[in-house]
Amino acid sequence: MRLAGKIAIITGTAGGMGQASAILFAKHGAKIACVDLSEEVNAETMAAIADLGGAAISIAADITKTADVERIVSRTIGELGLPTILFNNAGADTENKQSILKIDEAAFDRVVEVNLKGPWLMIKHVAPHMIEAGGGSIINTASIGAFIAASSAGYCASKAGLVGLTKVAAVELARHGIRVNALCPGATETPMAKHQRMEMEKAGMPTSNSIIDRMGVMGRLAQPEEMANMALFLASDESGFATGASFINDGGWLAMSGLPVQG
Ligand SMILES: NC(=O)c1ccc[n+]([C@@H]2O[C@H](COP(=O)([O-])OP(=O)(O)OC[C@H]3O[C@@H](n4cnc5c(N)ncnc54)[C@H](O)[C@@H]3O)[C@@H](O)[C@H]2O)c1
Repeated sequence: MRLAGKIAIITGTAGGMGQASAILFAKHGAKIACVDLSEEVNAETMAAIADLGGAAISIAADITKTADVERIVSRTIGELGLPTILFNNAGADTENKQSILKIDEAAFDRVVEVNLKGPWLMIKHVAPHMIEAGGGSIINTASIGAFIAASSAGYCASKAGLVGLTKVAAVELARHGIRVNALCPGATETPMAKHQRMEMEKAGMPTSNSIIDRMGVMGRLAQPEEMANMALFLASDESGFATGASFINDGGWLAMSGLPVQG
């Protein structure tokens, strides 16, 4: 029980890494506010947490809207208590993989809103209550795309921005006992990854299984649970000295960004 007595808000809990994390955090004793765009999409996650005897509430909200974020906070406090963990996991990529010269303006704006403005709004509204609780841990899911051109312009730019936001939040909130770190996954087998593969195919980009699955030196995609385990470490007191840092969990993708190594 590494999160006993903690109250966690996790965004994007319908599937993928958010779902795996909500289940894992609940197994470790946290009460979870599961946030996604609708109650329906959260149903599977809520059922899994109920099956293991965990405590969770489901909140339908769009993290880019202030009124929705205020509702996430008031429901969490009213129904669970003061939050001490915020996992900004929800994210989106542009609907198509068009080049920087062709990308639609509204699509670019939306991806920046979800990946960058949303986490900032969540921190702005949740952190005051963490301060009231005596401190906490905030985890922002960025991406390997914060460091290399691994996806669309809007996606990589917003994730790089999120790494910057993480550092500023870590510095500003340290005196309140709040740690803020970025989790930077490599290619992970989630609904988003499946969708991205389809979009790349539509755009005529090379997407054979061998290319996607070799985004790293392990020759496979990560499983969502492998990201949830790192999020658990960052959420727990075990990572008590870590703040303002980017935790890369990419199966060696960044390590092989130079010339291919023989052998
Ligand atoms: N899958 C990968 O290969 C990969 C790699 C690097 C980083 N990431 C990042 O990891 C995080 C989780 O990704 P995933 O692959 O599990 O994705 P996913 O698409 O399976 O899950 C993301 C969830 O966020 C929710 N969401 C989207 N916009 C929202 C909004 N405005 N308000 C509330 N919820 C919203 C979606 O409904 C969805 O359930 C994302 O931030 C993503 O950018 C994913």
